[in-house]
Amino acid sequence: MPIKNRLAEMHAEITGWRRHLHAHPELLYDVHETAAFVAERLRDFGVDEITPGVGRTGVVAVIRGKTDSKGRVIGLRADMDALPIREATGRDYASTVEGKMHACGHDGHTAMLLGAARYLAETRNFDGTAVLIFQPAEEGGAGGKAMVEDGLMDRWGIQEVYGMHNMPGLPVGQFATRPGALLASADEFEIRVTGKGGHAAAPHMAVDTTLVAAQIVVTLQSIVARNVDPIQRVVVTVGTFQTDSAASNVIAQSARLQGTVRTLDPEWRVRAEERIRRIAEDTASAFGASAEVIWSPGYPATINHAEQTAFAAEVARSVSGAVNDTVDPIMPAEDFAYMLEARPGAYMFIGNGDTAMCHHPAYDFDDDAIPAGCSWFAELVERRMPAA
Ligand code: NI
Repeated sequence: MPIKNRLAEMHAEITGWRRHLHAHPELLYDVHETAAFVAERLRDFGVDEITPGVGRTGVVAVIRGKTDSKGRVIGLRADMDALPIREATGRDYASTVEGKMHACGHDGHTAMLLGAARYLAETRNFDGTAVLIFQPAEEGGAGGKAMVEDGLMDRWGIQEVYGMHNMPGLPVGQFATRPGALLASADEFEIRVTGKGGHAAAPHMAVDTTLVAAQIVVTLQSIVARNVDPIQRVVVTVGTFQTDSAASNVIAQSARLQGTVRTLDPEWRVRAEERIRRIAEDTASAFGASAEVIWSPGYPATINHAEQTAFAAEVARSVSGAVNDTVDPIMPAEDFAYMLEARPGAYMFIGNGDTAMCHHPAYDFDDDAIPAGCSWFAELVERRMPAA
């Protein structure tokens, strides 16, 4: 079954919701207007239950099928938050809020899940329960984790969970996914190096903290180059390097490095931390300095479950005919990872065509992706829980 006719009919209306959300972006957990808009639409559709305030500002809605003979429950998830970016698309639906922009297409995800909700509430052509999850704070705030910790999976009895993200560069209407790790984990580290400051003309009386920190930056590159199996994918990036010297004739007393580690492999997530600690502390020690490593765990890798991924790809194939089910993983992170740690499920990319990459000021969600995205969500429900 291709695009559902009813969803094709609703295309213009769903586009209107998407553009409204786009013009009114909100950040992190501060998605009050967006959540209210979502709840209002859901109320209009006549869904069975709406619960706001899950994971602080998330919204959960329940739609029951015509029958419920087996107690099956599927969760469908969209994210609602925008980014602190000044929009540069010049569109007539561009952000009306200075310095905030839906530059990752979460407005599109929310609108597509709303479209599917309306269709499912009208037709109810399934045997079981669909739970619609609208989450806050995907962009670094771990809103998905907050919803899981607020009992999302247990309170609504969710057995499987599915999510979707638009992908610039992939043709509109096409889908891509893979079993196993699809997106990376993202941890952050800070290294505080302390040497002995002094006069730049008397280095023998100091311990040059800048030199020590520079050695640490260089040696950290050996983790990926020399420790990691070349078949694995690990990124170690040092993003900032600051010393406390403000003059060319002063040897710094302290330095601070900040960086990030990305990996698809949970084992390498642990080993990279061990290597970074060892390299920082021992390199500093070799120079007579000291280093302290502060580790901040971020999102885990987004790991698709094999059976649910095969099913999600089959549904995408029936909707669009074009699915790459062995796409290469990518190294950004995604907090749907927490939902996939809690329940089996799959994450899917949907093509967003020829636009700037997500998080760019010129990024533009392509509304032509809407019918395929809505149909995929709805078809997941109807196929996984076929009407008796
Ligand atoms: Ni995103």
